[in-house]
Amino acid sequence: MNSDNVNLDWASLPFGYHRTDYNVRCVYRNGEWGEIEVHTSEEITLHMAASCLHYGQEVFEGQKAFRGVDGRIRLFRIEENARRFADSARGIAMQPMPEELFIKMARMAIKLNERWVPPYGSGCSLYLRPIEIGITPRVGVSAADEYVVIMFVTPVGAYFKNGFSTSKVVIYREYDRAAPQGTGRWKVGGNYAGGMVATMRAKKDGYSAVLFLDPKEKKYLDECGPANFFAIKGDAYVTPKSNSILPSVTNKSLQQLAKDMGLRVECRPVPVEELAEFDEAAECGTAAVAAPISQVDDVDRGVSYVIARDNKPGPVITKLYKQLQAIQYGESPDPYGWCTFIDND
Ligand code: PLP
Ligand code: COI
Repeated sequence: MNSDNVNLDWASLPFGYHRTDYNVRCVYRNGEWGEIEVHTSEEITLHMAASCLHYGQEVFEGQKAFRGVDGRIRLFRIEENARRFADSARGIAMQPMPEELFIKMARMAIKLNERWVPPYGSGCSLYLRPIEIGITPRVGVSAADEYVVIMFVTPVGAYFKNGFSTSKVVIYREYDRAAPQGTGRWKVGGNYAGGMVATMRAKKDGYSAVLFLDPKEKKYLDECGPANFFAIKGDAYVTPKSNSILPSVTNKSLQQLAKDMGLRVECRPVPVEELAEFDEAAECGTAAVAAPISQVDDVDRGVSYVIARDNKPGPVITKLYKQLQAIQYGESPDPYGWCTFIDND
């Protein structure tokens, strides 16, 4: 195994796929999970009738590992991803992976690719992408009996190329990402396919994301692209409560930090018109971290909600962002026990 740390052009590293050395896999067959396999090939062989290809039996996760100020590798809140991965699988009748097995695989994938963890100070991280797919050949609509979980890693830079800066988001009332009692609360690939036309249109129109409305009444704010929405209003941290958004690990973490900064956390339905009352707003997620929003255009109503008049990230969101990153990079203590060290196996 080549143990030399890699040297990439960190300053311009995109949030994208870059080949690393190994991926780990585990197959569920005959009612049990097999041994964890280590692979160097980036390819997989699938039966053309595999249920994931026809009926969308696919779930995934995303989490980051950070090289800290002390040189140690910290993996962020992986237990939360393990739980959500199993919940997502149950949500679309797939075999849930035991959480301990998920965590073991995640640690292995990072440890094996240790040299790909970007250096401290680069602002980059190693992104872990676990996927699970149904692999049983099916033509009639029914759940697979066999599944494979694959975890690969890729070094990533900032999700938005301008880093921590404001962007505009858009509301298009003609699209929904998920149904009211559908799959929005799980991390299934189909949700992203469902939102793709709206997302591509938003990018073309110069927005960073679509701010979806609740799919039932179109009255309340819902998911914000591949991220949750949150806002600061006076001394409150406000974030939508909805059955069709993914429970974000980042949002949960920011809520904790906000409480500890003395803010009140309000997780409730958020009417669209309340956008006019926010002091600051952002989209948050593992990839996006906390990406401030300067303006929301409700194009079908011809209304623009300007949130950051000076186009600059607001003070509270900046503080939350910095505090979260300081914990992730080991610059601040981690009183919540959010980080798992990878180097002590
Ligand atoms: N919502 C969607 C649709 C996402 O894809 C993500 C990204 O994972 C999030 C929210 C944020 O979740 P997390 O903070 O757990 O990454
Ligand atoms: C993440 O934030 O980890 C995500 O999964 C978002 C991704 C779809 C880009």
